[in-house]
Amino acid sequence: MKLSLSTLAAGIFYVASVDAASASQCRCVYGQSCWPSGSDFSQLQSLLSQSLLYPKPTASQCYSTSGASDDCSDVIANYTSGIWRSDMVGSMEAPNWESYIFQNGTIAACYPETNITGACDQGNVPVIAVDARTPADIQAAVNFSVMHDLRMVVKNTGHDYIGRSAGRGALMVWTHNMKNITHDGSFVPEGAPPNETYDAFTLEAGVQWFEAYAAANATGRVLVGGLSAGGSVGAAGGWIQGGGHSALSSNYGLGVDNAVEMTVVTSTGQYLTVNAHQNPDLFWALRGGGGGTYGVVTSVTYKTHPALPALVAIFSVNSTNSSLIQQLFTESYTMLPSLSDAGWGGYGGIDNTSVEFIYLSPNVSWAQANETWTPFFERAANLTSAGLNITAAETLQFPSFYTLYESFFGTPTGQNGGNVILGSRLIPREVIENNNDEMCTAIFETPGMSWNFVAGGKVSTVDPDSAGLNPAWRKAVVHITWGASWEDGASAEDIGQLAAGVKEQEARIRELTPESGCYFNEASPFEEDFRYTFFGDHYAKLKEIKDKYDPHQLFVVTQGVGSEEWDDELTCRV
Ligand SMILES: Cc1cc2nc3c(=O)[nH]c(=O)nc-3n(C[C@H](O)[C@H](O)[C@H](O)COP(=O)(O)OP(=O)(O)OC[C@H]3O[C@@H](n4cnc5c(N)ncnc54)[C@H](O)[C@@H]3O)c2cc1C
Ligand SMILES: *[C@@H]1O[C@H](CO)[C@@H](O)[C@H](O)[C@H]1NC(C)=O
Ligand SMILES: *[C@@H]1O[C@H](CO)[C@@H](O)[C@H](O)[C@H]1NC(C)=O
Ligand SMILES: *[C@@H]1O[C@H](CO)[C@@H](O)[C@H](O)[C@H]1NC(C)=O
Ligand SMILES: *[C@@H]1O[C@H](CO)[C@@H](O)[C@H](O)[C@H]1NC(C)=O
Ligand SMILES: *[C@@H]1O[C@H](CO)[C@@H](O)[C@H](O)[C@H]1NC(C)=O
Ligand SMILES: *[C@@H]1O[C@H](CO)[C@@H](O)[C@H](O)[C@H]1NC(C)=O
Ligand SMILES: *[C@@H]1O[C@H](CO)[C@@H](O)[C@H](O)[C@H]1NC(C)=O
Ligand SMILES: *[C@@H]1O[C@H](CO)[C@@H](O)[C@H](O)[C@H]1NC(C)=O
Ligand SMILES: *[C@@H]1O[C@H](CO)[C@@H](O)[C@H](O)[C@H]1NC(C)=O
Ligand SMILES: *[C@@H]1O[C@H](CO)[C@@H](O)[C@H](O)[C@H]1NC(C)=O
Ligand SMILES: *[C@@H]1O[C@H](CO)[C@@H](O)[C@H](O)[C@H]1NC(C)=O
Ligand SMILES: *[C@@H]1O[C@H](CO)[C@@H](O)[C@H](O)[C@H]1NC(C)=O
Repeated sequence: MKLSLSTLAAGIFYVASVDAASASQCRCVYGQSCWPSGSDFSQLQSLLSQSLLYPKPTASQCYSTSGASDDCSDVIANYTSGIWRSDMVGSMEAPNWESYIFQNGTIAACYPETNITGACDQGNVPVIAVDARTPADIQAAVNFSVMHDLRMVVKNTGHDYIGRSAGRGALMVWTHNMKNITHDGSFVPEGAPPNETYDAFTLEAGVQWFEAYAAANATGRVLVGGLSAGGSVGAAGGWIQGGGHSALSSNYGLGVDNAVEMTVVTSTGQYLTVNAHQNPDLFWALRGGGGGTYGVVTSVTYKTHPALPALVAIFSVNSTNSSLIQQLFTESYTMLPSLSDAGWGGYGGIDNTSVEFIYLSPNVSWAQANETWTPFFERAANLTSAGLNITAAETLQFPSFYTLYESFFGTPTGQNGGNVILGSRLIPREVIENNNDEMCTAIFETPGMSWNFVAGGKVSTVDPDSAGLNPAWRKAVVHITWGASWEDGASAEDIGQLAAGVKEQEARIRELTPESGCYFNEASPFEEDFRYTFFGDHYAKLKEIKDKYDPHQLFVVTQGVGSEEWDDELTCRV
């Protein structure tokens, strides 16, 4: 997607399409004369295990047919819960992806504050959805979409940061209710020699991390997964297809390094089992080549790891002296390469007056952890006389990863439900080792900065060509993110200005890390060279595989492989 600054805002939410779609060039969307008739949909319905659904925006309950309704308390109370949102077919984690900006700047939206526009607009939310429970449901939806040349989107949790699971006037395949979890202590991939066995979990496409973690814990094992409030991120959808990072990655690799098999429905309606022995090219592409691009994944099988005690280091300080904060933050970054080698990983954030992080490791004793952290904690303690306030600087031991997860990530509210545009970058180990001061100054001066310390260690020792994943991950030690957010009711112009700010900040960070790239799943909608930025030198091979398995080009997402052949709205070929 190539966006100029003048179309920034429009690009985020897509621009209105020309109604007289030329059949060969454009997909059919709701409202056009090509849209399938009621009897066409009845035919589709007859092939499905569930009733067709008609998704509505998250806040639609706040509106009644007569205008504003008082049924909004549930929406307001749960608005920032990723679990609550992902249970609803029409809800996206970031509400801005539910809305749509016309070229004239009018925003079609459905805000919980009903007095902003007075009406609930469908916006960017797909109009009809297949509530998939089986591969056959998905085959029917895919066949129907190809037959009618529909714009189709795949939605799992709706957590995508670039709105890839939404689409105005589209048909949605909703995988959320495919919840089966199967444990096999000696799983053999199809086509593999009988001695290639794994202790493995097979997760259907709709399983979320909170469910997968609980199931693994019950068998005394651990899965490498995402960590977020309430564990709401999907465990077998976009997360793994974009790469899948975890605080455990420096020990056990990324999600893509832990998958041993997947099943997938392609746009030709085939249901395939893919692994290192069968359709290895598709298996390669599905591990990091981007969600919503090759087919609908129906399950992922992951190998597990032993449930060891987990050590945590928590650090939280503030000061009115911002250079003190910057200094301490910069010192903490010099530790990242060796911390990752020792199996530490986690998350942090910074602003002018505070810095905090929580890192964990399942691979050290408490005494070793203290040996690692005591000098840094002492260093901070020494700065209290200079004006540093310490809220936390300590190590803790948990009996297992699962108890740690429950204790820090158990509450589902707080992380979702905000309008947001992200910027992000994978920061190479080499840059931390050779240019840490300049890098940290740029990070410190970028507003809204947080980081995912989820690379290095094991992530760097895996062959970069073993998966479709952006090879930049293998050289990185930390994945930084920042962004802009705004209140409902902001104008398209104001949003465009915020977006322009994110783009400027990106340019500065990119200059310090010219050969690196970005994480497909947590990124800006405005990357200038998305092919290199998200896929590096794997792009050409990924495109070949995409063309082979998706001859209908049914699966097209923003900045995904092959999307350069489509317009910004992803409905017309360019
Ligand atoms: C609160 C929060 C916390 C996060 N934490 C982490 C983290 O710890 N680690 C990390 O790596 N990322 C994290 N992410 C980013 C996350 O990986 C992405 O949001 C990812 O896209 C989520 O995938 P999903 O399937 O849950 O979401 P969706 O938005 O439903 O899907 C994302 C993309 O994948 C496609 N897709 C979904 N399911 C399928 C399928 N079965 N087959 C084919 N395509 C599919 C969709 O079409 C869409 O393009 C987080 C995001 C949020 C909002
Ligand atoms: C919604 O919020 C209410 C009130 O806080 C709470 O009782 C309920 O459990 C929430 N529902 C979900 C699904 O989180
Ligand atoms: C902007 O365009 C949309 C779609 O064409 C239209 O519905 C809306 O009325 C227009 N708004 C203004 C202010 O002209
Ligand atoms: C909408 O109503 C809320 C109070 O319910 C008020 O705070 C807000 O300012 C109003 N917004 C507009 C645009 O009128
Ligand atoms: C979808 O199409 C494929 C290939 O043409 C076919 O094998 C399959 O039976 C179809 N499935 C449904 C549910 O129509
Ligand atoms: C889900 O698991 C149950 C119990 O193991 C099984 O009966 C059912 O067939 C599975 N469903 C699918 C779609 O695999
Ligand atoms: C499986 O057996 C083959 C042949 O005996 C051997 O070469 C290979 O290393 C074994 N693989 C594993 C994973 O044990
Ligand atoms: C996690 O597993 C342990 C040991 O298997 C068990 O004691 C504990 O109850 C489990 N926790 C939950 C919440 O299931
Ligand atoms: C740090 O603590 C002092 C008092 O001990 C307080 O005056 C100051 O505001 C605190 N700094 C911040 C950023 O909270
Ligand atoms: C702030 O901290 C720095 C050290 O990082 C120190 O040099 C400077 O004097 C401090 N400024 C004030 C006003 O205390
Ligand atoms: C902290 O200060 C003490 C006393 O000045 C000094 O001996 C020690 O080396 C300092 N520790 C660190 C980590 O800076
Ligand atoms: C700063 O740290 C002090 C001491 O831990 C704490 O009481 C205070 O709440 C913190 N202030 C902020 C703004 O976090
Ligand atoms: C490690 O340090 C923590 C405080 O950060 C302390 O509570 C704990 O007892 C220490 N453990 C060991 C084994 O030294």
